[in-house]
Amino acid sequence: MTTSNLVLVGFMGTGKSTVGKKLAERLGWKFQDSDAVLEDELQTSIADLFRQHGEAHFRSLESKTLESLLAQRGQIVATGGGAVLAEENRACMLRNGFVVALKASPETIIHRVSADINRPLLQGNLEERVHTLLEQRKSAYDFAHTVIDTTELTTDQIVDLIIQQAN
Ligand code: S3P
Repeated sequence: MTTSNLVLVGFMGTGKSTVGKKLAERLGWKFQDSDAVLEDELQTSIADLFRQHGEAHFRSLESKTLESLLAQRGQIVATGGGAVLAEENRACMLRNGFVVALKASPETIIHRVSADINRPLLQGNLEERVHTLLEQRKSAYDFAHTVIDTTELTTDQIVDLIIQQAN
């Protein structure tokens, strides 16, 4: 693998963490989930962070976390679904790794995210929230070096595709 890092972006529920962990195993690289790193550092949950300080504060911490994570090499970095919204984050990802965007159908996303009801941006009517955010973020993931639709693929197939494309 010639790239410095592999960065996974994509809407919530597109499989960034599942795929990232498997990729890390296959390559013998470290897996870093930017939300988990932030939660560890602050000893709080993303949901509590949103509740106590609001989204803007979370976004600013998210950018700092990404920047410091991407200063390291040889890692699989899974980002939060909204990390791509800031131009500075997109630029930082493109500078420091091969960026893979994972996509999935709205039905698949709804099915996957319903397993974790704590996501702050999906409170209220889940289906409505997913459709609204997907519409708002329609082209937000297109800056990536490659885009993979995971809807019909197994984790192993996705991992194989990423390894092929990053080489
Ligand atoms: C968010 C996605 C979440 C988390 C936060 C905001 C988003 O990460 O960063 O709740 O704006 O899409 P996952 O994509 O890992 O669920």
